[in-house]
Amino acid sequence: MTLVFSIETSCDETSVAIVENGGQILSQITFNQAEHNRFGGVVPEIASRAHLQILQKIIPLCFNKANLNIKNIDLFCATCGPGLVGGLLVGSTIAKTMAIGINKPFYPINHLEGHLVSPLFNNELKFPNLILLLTGGHTQIYLTHKPNKYELLGETVDDAIGESFDKVAKLIGLNFPGGPEIEKLAKNGNPNSYKLPHPFIKKKNINFSFSGIKTAVSLIVSKQNKINLKFKEDISASFQNKIIEILIKKTELALSILKNDKIDIYDIAIVGGVAANMELRKSFSKIFNKKYNMIYPLKKLCGDNAAMIALACHKKFEEKIEPNYFFKPNPRLTIMKSKF
Ligand code: KG4
Ligand code: ZN
Repeated sequence: MTLVFSIETSCDETSVAIVENGGQILSQITFNQAEHNRFGGVVPEIASRAHLQILQKIIPLCFNKANLNIKNIDLFCATCGPGLVGGLLVGSTIAKTMAIGINKPFYPINHLEGHLVSPLFNNELKFPNLILLLTGGHTQIYLTHKPNKYELLGETVDDAIGESFDKVAKLIGLNFPGGPEIEKLAKNGNPNSYKLPHPFIKKKNINFSFSGIKTAVSLIVSKQNKINLKFKEDISASFQNKIIEILIKKTELALSILKNDKIDIYDIAIVGGVAANMELRKSFSKIFNKKYNMIYPLKKLCGDNAAMIALACHKKFEEKIEPNYFFKPNPRLTIMKSKF
C-alpha cells in the first residue's frame, strides 16, 4: 500500500488530500477562498496569506478524517507550477518540510499534469488519447502517448477559456467565478440571439483565440439600455454556444491532423474547471460518442483539488521518476510542445 499526501495551492483553492494506491481518496479537504469574489478575480497577495492560514487548519483535519498520522505517509507532493508564485511557495514549502521531517520522498507536481490525470479516478484511458485541458489559466489540447508522456498540440494565443467565461460574466454583472453562473443563465436563453465571432475558423492549426469574443460581448453590452434577466440569459446562451462550437471544430481538426499522421485515437477526455459544464459535455458526447469514448473527471474533481496532484505523483512513482527536494516552484511551468 502506498499513501500519498498532497497540497494544491496554485490559485485560490487551498486543498489537501491523502490518496491510497493512486486511486482511492481517503480524505480530501478543499477550501475555496471566497474573499476574492468582491474583487472580481484572484488577488495574489491575499491568496498566499490565506493559503498559509488555511493549511494550518486543514492539514490536521485531513489526517484526522483519514484516521492516519504523518508517519503513515509514503510520498509527499505539492503543486510547483504553473500558478501564483506566493501560493506555490507556501504549499510546496510545507509539503517538503513534512517530507524532510520524516525522511520520505517529495515530488514536485505540475498542476496541468494533475488535471490531465484527474479522469483516471473513475475511468481508464487507452493510449494514445486526446485531452482538452480547459481551465481559468489554460486552453490546451494534448496528445498522450503513454503515462507521463504528453505532447502539446495547440493552445490559446490570448485569453484562457475559463478566463473568458469569467470576463463575460463580469461584463453582465455576475459573480466570480463566472463559468457556473453563465451555465445556469444559459439554460433559459436563446443561443441564437447574438451573433459572435468564430476566431481562427479558417486556420489549419489547433490554436484558439477567445479575446475577440469577449470584446464582441463587451460591445453588445455597451449598446444595451437595460441589462435585465432576459438579456443576461440570451447573451450567456449565445456566448456558451459559440465557445462549445469552437472547441468542437478544433477537436475535429486535431483528430483529422492526427489521422493523417496515422495516429488513431479512441478516447477523448475533457478536464479542468470548465469540464464541469454540462452543456459542453452533452454537446461533445453528441458529436463524438459514435466514434470515440468521451471521458470526463467526476464533477467534484474538475476544479482545482489536491487529490489529482496526489494521483499525478503516484504515476511518477510508478514510472520510477526520481523525487526531488530541490525543485524551485515555477509560475510558468509548462509541458513539452509538439512537432505538429
Ligand atoms: O481548473 P480550475 O478550477 O482552475 C484553474 O486551474 O484555472 O478552473 C477554473 C475556471 C474558472 O474560470 C471558472 O469560471 C471555470 O473554470 N468554470 C466553468 C464552470 N465551472 C468552473 N466554466 C464553465 N462552466 C462551468 N460550469
Ligand atoms: Zn487548475
